[in-house]
Amino acid sequence: MTDTKKSIHGEWSSRFAFILAATGSAVGLGNIWKFPYITGENGGGAFVIIYLLCVAVIGIPIMIAEIMMGRRGRQCPINTLETLTEEAGANKNWHSLGWLGVIAGFLILSYYSVIAGWAMAYVVKAFTGSFSGEGAAQIKTLFSDLQASPGQQIFWHTTFMFATMSVVAPGVQGGLEKAVRFLMPGLFVLLMLLVAYAMTTGAYMQGLAFLFKPDFSEITGDSVLTAMGHAFFTLSLGMGAIMVYGSYLPKDISIAKTSILIACADTLVALLAGIAIFPIVFAYGLEASAGPGLIFQTLPIAFGNMTGGWLFGVLFFVLLVFAAISSAISLIEPAVAWVVENYNVDRKKASIYMGLATWFLGLGTVFSESFFEKIDYLTANLMLPLGGLCIALFAGRVMLQKHTQAELALDNETEYAVWKFLVSYIAPAAVFLVFLHVLGVFG
Ligand code: PFF
Repeated sequence: MTDTKKSIHGEWSSRFAFILAATGSAVGLGNIWKFPYITGENGGGAFVIIYLLCVAVIGIPIMIAEIMMGRRGRQCPINTLETLTEEAGANKNWHSLGWLGVIAGFLILSYYSVIAGWAMAYVVKAFTGSFSGEGAAQIKTLFSDLQASPGQQIFWHTTFMFATMSVVAPGVQGGLEKAVRFLMPGLFVLLMLLVAYAMTTGAYMQGLAFLFKPDFSEITGDSVLTAMGHAFFTLSLGMGAIMVYGSYLPKDISIAKTSILIACADTLVALLAGIAIFPIVFAYGLEASAGPGLIFQTLPIAFGNMTGGWLFGVLFFVLLVFAAISSAISLIEPAVAWVVENYNVDRKKASIYMGLATWFLGLGTVFSESFFEKIDYLTANLMLPLGGLCIALFAGRVMLQKHTQAELALDNETEYAVWKFLVSYIAPAAVFLVFLHVLGVFG
């Protein structure tokens, strides 16, 4: 494989563009909607520590591996794995890893779009003043009314899928890159504003204690699995999303530094969301373990009770929707790139087919909460960690050292050795042990 090989889909215009796009993929509903509610369901601080550990020890090395594999293969994950398997002279079974990712992305996007649809509905609610001066009980009713209306949910789910596919269709620079440029700074500013509000609730310290004071008696095997699964989910790892973005990465960019930066930004956003939400939960006597509705039942209280809150509410939910779109495009990109590469179909048509299929599956989540729970468990807790485990082994043990070394071009031997040790042994062993633990092997 020559160094000049480029993806047929185009390339990012700069390192900054890649960072924006990859951070756009990582930062999404996972940080602002999912992280707070699963932290609430799993008892707080101890869960947060396990999640942070997983990000550092498993997430970052695997992110480096995924981007590196994408850049070397320069195609969609399915074809990249074929190319890299051949290059390493390895067993053809490795091809299925690409498939696992495409299927996981498709499954995740189906429910992701429904939840992003809720955020869209909340833009309108904020705009029409529905939160204004309301207490916890009325805000809760607003949310249950939405839950009880499949018609509304389908409307917003459709709108979200439509928006996502119109960004995917024009391709790497036309669509993906432009969409993420203004998003991150805006979201960050609004989160800071919410944190400032949280400080005025009188339960700020209680919220912080819940998030950061570990109580390991709250931890079960399943919460460890959830924390690890979430590390994959939030960093968009284990399914080829970051790999496909890596395939559009120009040659001269440092993969390791970029990965660390993306992981830090992603973690910061999640922690800020937690710091904003839990003080409100405690100040208004809400349940930390309220589940997927948590942010929709807490943040509107803040918007409803601060000056100019309707405007901040509109801005916040608009930005949340954009953050969701910039993640959604990366969930479907591996599938779209695969259709384009293998069936000689243009991007536009490929986006329409994939979008329609995902939309249809999303109806399952609209009509049944347990459908959502099952897909979420299957993808975040099983498919992503399994995909990540295989990616780690592939990058660490199957690819030839001279290839990974050339692709990563790290400053010194030690950095390379640390990465190689982490992906070859530590990350796979950690994922494997957590799986065994959940299966009850340790009693
Ligand atoms: N990382 C995204 C989030 O936190 O919302 C979700 C996601 C995107 C997961 C892309 C997986 C993925 F491949």
